[in-house]
Parts: sequence; C-alpha cells; structure tokens
Amino acid sequence: MSSPTHRLPLLKVDQLSAGYGELPVLHEVALEIYPREMVALVGSNGAGKTSLLRALSRLLPCSGSIVFNRRELIGATPDQAFDLGLVQVPEGRQLFDRMSVQDNVLMGSYRRRDQAAIRRDLDKIYTIFPRLAERRRQLAGSMSGGEQQMCAMARALMAAPVLMMVDEMSLGLAPVVVEQLMDVLAAIQRDGVTVLLVEQDVQLALSCADRGYVMEAGRIVHSGPAKTLIDDPSVQQAYLGL
Ligand SMILES: Nc1ncnc2c1ncn2[C@@H]1O[C@H](COP(=O)(O)OP(=O)(O)O)[C@@H](O)[C@H]1O
Ligand SMILES: [Mg+2]
Repeated sequence: MSSPTHRLPLLKVDQLSAGYGELPVLHEVALEIYPREMVALVGSNGAGKTSLLRALSRLLPCSGSIVFNRRELIGATPDQAFDLGLVQVPEGRQLFDRMSVQDNVLMGSYRRRDQAAIRRDLDKIYTIFPRLAERRRQLAGSMSGGEQQMCAMARALMAAPVLMMVDEMSLGLAPVVVEQLMDVLAAIQRDGVTVLLVEQDVQLALSCADRGYVMEAGRIVHSGPAKTLIDDPSVQQAYLGL
C-alpha cells in the first residue's frame, strides 16, 4: 500500500497508559491506523497486545487519547466504541459452545435493528465461510479450532466493523488453516474493512500486513512498513530466529 501519510488516520492513539490495579502494563503507547490498511501489532506473550485491544474497546480503563473516526473515545463506553465500528475478534474465540454456529454468528448483530440488512450480511458471510453455512445448526463447541475461529470472525463481521481487531487468530491452528484464514482476512480488507492483526507469530503477521508495530513490555519499540521490520536485524534477532 502507498504511503498513508497524506490521509487522515482512522485510529490515532497517543500517550495511552493503562494497568491492572497497581500494575502498569501499557506505557505511553502511540500508533496510527489509516483507512483500509492491514496493520500488525506483534510481540511476545505478555507484551501487552491484548491489554491494548481491551483499552481501545474501552474494556480496560486507560489515560491518554484514542481518536477513532475523529471522535475521542476516552470516556466512551464499550457499546459506544462497538457502535462506531471498533470490533474485536477476541483471543481464544470466546464462543458460546452450547449455542449453534448461527446463533453465535448472530450475536455480532445484537445491537443492530435493520433486519433486512442483517439477513443480507448473514447471507454474504455464509458465502465467505461456506463451511459455516453447512454447519449453521451445529453446536459451536463441537467444531474444529479453525472452524471456531471462522465463527468468531463471522460474528465480528455481523457487527459491520469499520476496524476489525483480530487477536491471536493463528494460535493453535495448523498452517494450512491459518493460510485459509489469512486469505479471508485479505478479502475482508479488500472489501473496505481496516484490519489490526495482533499476533505472537511475528513472521506471519509481518508477511501479511502493510505496516507493523512491535510491542515489548507495554511499549511500542519498533514501527514501520512490514517489509522494513522483517528486514530489521534487531527484529530478526528477537522474533524471527535469524
Ligand atoms: N486481568 C489481568 N489482571 C492482571 N494482570 C493482567 C491481566 N491481564 C493481563 N495481565 C498482565 O498484563 C501484561 C500484558 O498481558 P497481555 O495484554 O495479555 O499481553 P499479550 O496479549 O501481549 O500476551 C502481562 O504481564 C499480564 O500478566
Ligand atoms: Mg494476548
């Protein structure tokens, strides 16, 4: 993707700090995401990636600034952020195992009222994920890990996301399944959704994204075009085993 600097960012985070009780976990984080980009947020387990997503979704109190679509979200509720199109596919999928695939998928549209549009979106999502269409009546908990990840992504799409934040999509899945899911994410991006890909698998995320941010101990320590980061010797040494 061409240099995004001439456009207004969709998301601009500044001086974001947060913690759990007395324990600080995020330190003055700054990042920007431009419309229709795929941005990778990578780092080791415990770096603070999920905490940052929770802060953006307003689930974790924080200080600083989160401007999304020109609105300041500090002070907004999780529902308000969600209604603006800031939607997470959470780490570990978080499905209702004893509910059907379709009921899980429809959870994504629970705040929408336009039944005709919901129906259209559901049909479209079943063309993106034919496997889910076949299994719509099956219990979500009885599906494979890859199918459950599809279900979590489909649920997020039912919320009509503007920025879809996908947390550890690849964790525990076979490479061939991850490849299929990455193809779907690329199609979702081409369809106009901006994507924040959060991954411990640094190689995978940087090889798919336009730009990347590397997080260590609650701070952004590297950022830039994904290709530049992959070639950066300090990133290679720390994360790519080179
Ligand atoms: N609910 C919580 N209560 C207290 N500490 C937490 C909680 N969740 C995460 N942490 C701590 O915050 C830090 C960052 O964790 P996390 O955001 O989950 O990192 P990542 O997603 O990069 O693996 C870790 O030290 C973790 O132990
Ligand atoms: Mg995490």
